[in-house]
Amino acid sequence: MDFFMAKFSKHVALYQKTSYSEITASLWLSLRLQLLAAFIISFIALMAVIGNFGDFPFKLGTPGLVGLALSYASPIVSLLSSFLTSFTETEKEMVSVERVLQYIDIPQEEQCGSVSPHLDWPSHGQIEFEHVTLRYKPSLPAALNNLSFKINAGMQVGVVGRTGAGKSSMINALFRLTPICNGRILIDNLNVAEVAVRELRQSFAVVPQSPFLFEGSLRDNLDPSGGTSEEKIWEILEKVHIRTLIESAGGLDIQVKESSVTFSIGQCQLICLARALLKSSKVKLVN
Ligand SMILES: Nc1ncnc2c1ncn2[C@@H]1O[C@H](COP(=O)(O)OP(=O)(O)OP(=O)(O)O)[C@@H](O)[C@H]1O
Ligand SMILES: [Mg+2]
Repeated sequence: MDFFMAKFSKHVALYQKTSYSEITASLWLSLRLQLLAAFIISFIALMAVIGNFGDFPFKLGTPGLVGLALSYASPIVSLLSSFLTSFTETEKEMVSVERVLQYIDIPQEEQCGSVSPHLDWPSHGQIEFEHVTLRYKPSLPAALNNLSFKINAGMQVGVVGRTGAGKSSMINALFRLTPICNGRILIDNLNVAEVAVRELRQSFAVVPQSPFLFEGSLRDNLDPSGGTSEEKIWEILEKVHIRTLIESAGGLDIQVKESSVTFSIGQCQLICLARALLKSSKVKLVN
C-alpha cells in the first residue's frame, strides 16, 4: 500500500510540475498576444488621429471608417489566441502520435518458437556454439567472431578474457538478448533460435554482471516463481554466507528497493547468486 502511495504521489508531483510549466508558458503567450493586440489597436487609433492632420499616406477617412477599423481590430485578441491555442494543441497531440509511431517501429521479440522443448529441457546441460557471430549493430565490428566451442554436460567452465573481449556477449547470444547474425547455439542438441524466448530464459539460472534486485520482498527476489520451502531458502543463504546478514536485516520479508541502498553491490551479487542456486536449472551462468 505504502509502495503504491509513494509511487502515486511521485507521479502526481511530476504531473503537477509539467502542468505548472505548461500553464505558465500559456499565460506568458497570452500576455504577449494581448500586448500585440493592444499595440495594433493603439496603432489604428493613432493613425486615425494623425491622419486627420496634414497629408499622411494612410488616411482612414470618415469617422465611420475609423469606428469600423477599431471594431474589427478589437476581437483580434481572442482570434489570435484561439488560433495559436489550436495550433499548439495540434502540435502537442502530434507528439503523442509521434510517440505511438515510435513504439510501433520497435522490433518485437518473437514470442513463440517453432519447437516446444521438453519440460525438463535442458536435462543434461551440454552447450555448443557453432560459428557464432554476433554484431550489436550492422555498422559495428563483430563482438563475437566465428566462435565455436563445446561444453559437455557436467563441466564447470570459466571463460577468461580482457574487458570488452565478449564474455557478456556470449551470455547475450545464449539468451537471445541480441540476435546472432551467423551460426547456431545448441543446448542439448536443440537450437536455441527455435525455442520461444520465454521458455529459453526460464531454463537457465544466471547471475548477471551488474546484480539486479527488483522492487518487492526479499523472498520474491530470491524465489520469483514461488514454491520453494523456507528451509531450502535459508539453506542456500547459508551456503552463500549471507544468512546472518539477512537475519540481522529482518528476515525474508523485508522490502528491497530496485536502487538497493540496503545492500552493498557485493551483497546484491550474493543475493543474485542465491537466486540462481535456488533455481534448479542444469545450466548456471555467472558473469
Ligand atoms: N549494447 C552494446 N552495443 C554495442 N556494442 C556493445 C554492446 N555491448 C557490448 N558491446 C561491444 O561488444 C564487445 C564485447 O563486450 P562484452 O560486454 O561482451 O565484453 P565483456 O567481455 O563482458 O567485458 P567485461 O569484462 O568488461 O564485462 C565490446 O567491444 C563492446 O564495445
Ligand atoms: Mg561483461
